[in-house]
Amino acid sequence: MPIEKKYTEGRTTFLSADVEYYSGQKKQPTASLPVFYNPRMQLNRDLSVLFLRAYMMKHPVELMCEPLTGSGVRTLRYLNECRGDFKAILCDANPLAAETAQKNVEALGFSNRAEVVHGDAKLLLMSKSREQRFDFVDIDPFGTPAPYLYAAVQSINPREGLLAITATDMPVLCGVHPKIALRRYGGFSTRTPYTHEIAVRLLNGFIYNVAGACDCSIKPLAVLSTDHYVRTWVKIEANRTEANLQAREIGTILYCTGCMHSEIRALSMKVEDSSFEHQKDGCTGPIRVAGPLWIGELFSTEYLMDTIKAHENVDRETYHRRVPDMLEKMMGESALTNRPYIDIHSLCDLYNLTPPKNQIIIDGLKEQGFEVTRTHFKPTAIRTTAPVSEITRIIIEHTKR
Ligand SMILES: C[S@@+](CC[C@H](N)C(=O)[O-])C[C@H]1O[C@@H](n2cnc3c(N)ncnc32)[C@H](O)[C@@H]1O
Ligand SMILES: [Zn+2]
Repeated sequence: MPIEKKYTEGRTTFLSADVEYYSGQKKQPTASLPVFYNPRMQLNRDLSVLFLRAYMMKHPVELMCEPLTGSGVRTLRYLNECRGDFKAILCDANPLAAETAQKNVEALGFSNRAEVVHGDAKLLLMSKSREQRFDFVDIDPFGTPAPYLYAAVQSINPREGLLAITATDMPVLCGVHPKIALRRYGGFSTRTPYTHEIAVRLLNGFIYNVAGACDCSIKPLAVLSTDHYVRTWVKIEANRTEANLQAREIGTILYCTGCMHSEIRALSMKVEDSSFEHQKDGCTGPIRVAGPLWIGELFSTEYLMDTIKAHENVDRETYHRRVPDMLEKMMGESALTNRPYIDIHSLCDLYNLTPPKNQIIIDGLKEQGFEVTRTHFKPTAIRTTAPVSEITRIIIEHTKR
């Protein structure tokens, strides 16, 4: 057995390989840990617990599956910190991880609610779900979740089920390797100041494609972008009529590096360069294209309200300090995700301006009657109905004062 250490997250205490001992000087725990556990993902797991609690307020969950579980911490927290007596199947290909997860399940008294399997994630998803389909599947791999997606979607209860997916292959999703993004996620990534939004839209677009191939529709409930990963929560339901209608939510995003103007185009629309509304006199681009990807909503406001309620009923002290701020920003931006966020610092770099405080721009835009919110994606960015030229005008006016 590896050298182990006791950790506590939320109100759950569990054992895993001693991260400090095995990581040495490295900043991040790596895949070479005998049993994988990354304490820096606590914010992700805190929000994941809250999002499951919120989902369970309105949808039944009898059986869930986490096929890439590591120490088991994520599912142990679901079992321990969400209401109800739902059951869970945990799996890992690493025998030491499966052993640790089993030990944790027993120590927390969950032997009657949790089954730990040592094996391959895809095989498990496809085989175990034939007995009873899963109401919730959580995919949290190293790197890309793409290879697991078909099995995950097909393992979900066709009546309805929740799918949560993490991706950490950020260079691919954020435009460093657009061709790899095309083959993994079905759309080109591209470098923009809102590259993390492109990343979650590519992930949702890919989920739409896989779900659609299985005659299912999707409903995005929430997305999370922080540090070195993105994560999405999507409700899946067998509904081919809705899936057909959702074709309109797939499209491309055009971004001009010359003036920072973006346009979202549904895939069925004809793209003519001349119709692109550049925001700077004489701007000729170049225009970059991302997609095809999900251009629909990224959050359900109702779901976020339930999540905020769920947060009121937990021991907040044990949760990551950023949780309330994240939820508040998600709530704010949820009504404005029909356009990408705009990073004020990138805009100021482009126009050679000094960035003022975000609040000054927000107040200025509101005065002009535009809708505007902050975004959880980036502290220096906003979402607004205003064009880039209006934001630039407000910054220039402010600088003159
Ligand atoms: C990022 S870690 C999981 C972390 C965990 N979900 C958490 O929140 O702490 C990915 C895990 O997937 C396991 N794994 C990799 N390939 C697998 C496969 N094909 N089937 C099952 N498990 C696999 C690894 O051993 C590792 O424990
Ligand atoms: Zn332009």
